[in-house]
Amino acid sequence: MSTQYSNPLRDPNDRRLPRIAGPCGLVIFGVTGDLAQRKLIPAIYDLANRGLLPPSFSLIGFARHDFDIEEFAERTKAAAKAGARTQWRDSVWDQLAGGLRFVPGTFDDDAAWLNLASTMKELDQQQGTGGNHAFYLSIPPAFFDVVVSKLKQHGLADPDDEGSWRRVVVEKPFGHDLQSAQKLNAAVAEVFPRESVFRIDHYLGKETVQNILAFRFANGMFEPIWNNHYVDHVQITMAEDIGIGTRAGYYDGIGAARDVIQNHLLQLMALIAMEEPVSFDAGSLRIEKQKILANARPPQRLDLHTARAQYVEGWAGGVEVDGYLGEEGIPPDSLTETYAAIRVDIGTRRWAGVPFYLRAGKRLGRRVTEVAVVFKQAPHLPFSKLEVEELGQNALVMRIQPDEGVTLRFGAKVPGTTMEIRDVNMDFAYGGTFVQSSPEAYERLILDVLLGDPPLFPQHEEVELSWRILDPIIEHWARQKRIDTYPAGTWGPESADKMLARDGRRWRRP
Ligand code: BG6
Repeated sequence: MSTQYSNPLRDPNDRRLPRIAGPCGLVIFGVTGDLAQRKLIPAIYDLANRGLLPPSFSLIGFARHDFDIEEFAERTKAAAKAGARTQWRDSVWDQLAGGLRFVPGTFDDDAAWLNLASTMKELDQQQGTGGNHAFYLSIPPAFFDVVVSKLKQHGLADPDDEGSWRRVVVEKPFGHDLQSAQKLNAAVAEVFPRESVFRIDHYLGKETVQNILAFRFANGMFEPIWNNHYVDHVQITMAEDIGIGTRAGYYDGIGAARDVIQNHLLQLMALIAMEEPVSFDAGSLRIEKQKILANARPPQRLDLHTARAQYVEGWAGGVEVDGYLGEEGIPPDSLTETYAAIRVDIGTRRWAGVPFYLRAGKRLGRRVTEVAVVFKQAPHLPFSKLEVEELGQNALVMRIQPDEGVTLRFGAKVPGTTMEIRDVNMDFAYGGTFVQSSPEAYERLILDVLLGDPPLFPQHEEVELSWRILDPIIEHWARQKRIDTYPAGTWGPESADKMLARDGRRWRRP
């Protein structure tokens, strides 16, 4: 069967070709905030530097500051320069700066919205953005409602004509439990159609996370053993060495489970556990991930198979650091967890009986995110007990970051005339294999928003299913009047070790 394309050299199904955004603009609400300054602006510069943004691209910053455009441009340039992944080029920045605008104001100030509307119009005419605009809500969730309703009130949410588009980008957290997530989803859905809403889970933008699908579905040798006949359990770890820094306002009351397990870790679990999708389009991927999340159950014994704790003073990176309660802005009686570990069971034929252990924490031994698929022992070992004393369980470890790659752990004979078997590692490292470095997650995600390409963005069903898993756990913790502790720089509380020991297992030391 032959297919006709407008450009015969470019097959639209060939996903190896670079994808370049068409004429468009991005409006960032909360442009002076931490995320915009550290991640979004550098990512926009990197995209421009890689030639993936059109010359007509425009960036409008909206914030409660009285900058004039020169001051805004200076600050934005400094943020781009400080965080850029690719080489700095003044010519790239000058091109971007031509489409840069600033709209000062608060969200309840209608004059600011009118100013935004006329700035967008002006850019359409002068810069050639063609009426295509994405609105990035890089703001606390309490303001999501008001911003989307103001966008609607001022007619900004609807495209000017059939050929142009409007999209909204929502940063996490999507609510703090199922009910609030449903409310938030309803507020957004009232203004933007489903296909125009892009919910960011930046883990899905990471190269190593996308590689989970390539690893599982492009290779023949792993899938046959990817089930409860061979897999004993799965450990998903997201460890950070940093504390909460200046984010007390956001973090306290939220905690590790809501901050990263509800989204990043459950998404990783879904990618590891899902069936092969019909294709890699958004609809097919979501169906498979949703099936996993819908079948995933919180532990029956919440007291035995969850653990949570707070860091106390300790040593991190060779320096003595404060405990959580000593961090600026944290109330002295806070019970917010900075470490959470949970067991999740997936009720499917493939995964019945294989626990997934998820853990995340701040101020742990070092920064590492990994997924370890731990295999059952061989059903028969034709060796004496002593010969295999140092043989553990085989494991396949997907190293998400920072040392990106894949490790296969298995037993090998120690060289010599004796018979002794010991665990060894076989490694694939991105750094040593590919010459190109991985783009930052936000580069990929912002580009996908501008292209209207949705596979890496969870829809509200996934968000709500994830809250269904977490809600009973969080409610159980809320009923407790105390919280375990762990010294900063260690690998978490004793209760988390006991949680695995009850199942006859141990956490890996990544
Ligand atoms: C964010 C969390 O989603 O992910 C932060 O809100 C966390 O608390 C961050 O520090 C970690 O991201 P990364 O990409 O460094 O693993």
